[in-house]
Amino acid sequence: MGEGLWNDALSRMRARVVKIAEGVREGFPHFADPETGRWTCSPTGDWTGGFWNGMLWLSAAGARERRYLQWAEQWTERLRARIDSDTVFRGFLFYYGAALGGMLLNHRGAREIGLLGAKGLASMYNPRAEALPLGSEAEEASDVGKGEANVDTVQASALLLWAHRETGDPGLREIALKHAARHIEFCLREDGSVCQSASFEPATGTILRRYTHKGITDQSTWARAQAWGILGWTLTAQWSGDLRFLEPAERAADWWLAHVPDDWVAFWDFDDPAIPETNRDTSATAIVAASLLKLAALTRSEARRLVYRQAAEVTARALVEGSLGADGILRDGCYNKRIGLAIRHELVWGSYYLYEALHGLAATLDPARV
Ligand code: GLY
Repeated sequence: MGEGLWNDALSRMRARVVKIAEGVREGFPHFADPETGRWTCSPTGDWTGGFWNGMLWLSAAGARERRYLQWAEQWTERLRARIDSDTVFRGFLFYYGAALGGMLLNHRGAREIGLLGAKGLASMYNPRAEALPLGSEAEEASDVGKGEANVDTVQASALLLWAHRETGDPGLREIALKHAARHIEFCLREDGSVCQSASFEPATGTILRRYTHKGITDQSTWARAQAWGILGWTLTAQWSGDLRFLEPAERAADWWLAHVPDDWVAFWDFDDPAIPETNRDTSATAIVAASLLKLAALTRSEARRLVYRQAAEVTARALVEGSLGADGILRDGCYNKRIGLAIRHELVWGSYYLYEALHGLAATLDPARV
């Protein structure tokens, strides 16, 4: 399906990358108003700065132009200030923001910063709870600290598994697998839908409650919770080779495919009673497009491979044809509907995952390499 479409979308997004890199001087792009194209930046990267670096590393590997590499190196250096931040979202920051440079270009400096981030992240591990907690500086809407968990953090296992491959340290692998497995219990419901968050007793790991930071209710299915779950367990299977993690990943992906609207772009929460008069979330949809491509590469069943590959293609096509402007802006991302923050915006992580998926669809990147 549509090699021309993927390449055209890629060049639009790459032009947007150049515009952002030339226009943003301070901090990291976080979200932008699609009308003006102007970014709200985070001074030190918040939980999202790594996605911007990731777009630069993908560009440096794909376009092989010196300027992309220079930008990627500059922004990656800025992450050194975050090595000791007490937040589990160092998983996002250092996987996409640094380790990707090692994976794609064998870049020594990026690898070094990625490994420092992974080491810092591993130091948060609570062996009694068998999980990495959110941490006191986690960039979340409300509850953070030693007794809080989010499905958004399962991706952190990928950073540790990559670091294990690079260093041979078996402790990193063990933490990663325990953390990803514990979040099946914390967040995956019986029917395959995902609940964003859980509180647990730090001394014993006992679950105290399941809840949401950004969904409409604790019982609803916030689109990004579903998307982060699919991605996190898929990446765990990809980097560990432990294919038992494909079961939760596929259960969550199958739930998404059974519930996503006919036009393939999710509403911000699957249970918002205002549907269809409410916001979409293209960022959740982009995370799923990238994850489905990985699942298609990993799953053992030939029939499922086909299903996930086709679903990835139609999902990416829906985003490109419906929400990606000629200016390379992915519109209609919904950051936090509960507080009305950036609810029809260009979100840097949504752009990252669509950009990654397009590289896979245009066959310039093996989806299971990152
Ligand atoms: N906490 C990550 C997100 O808002 O998706």
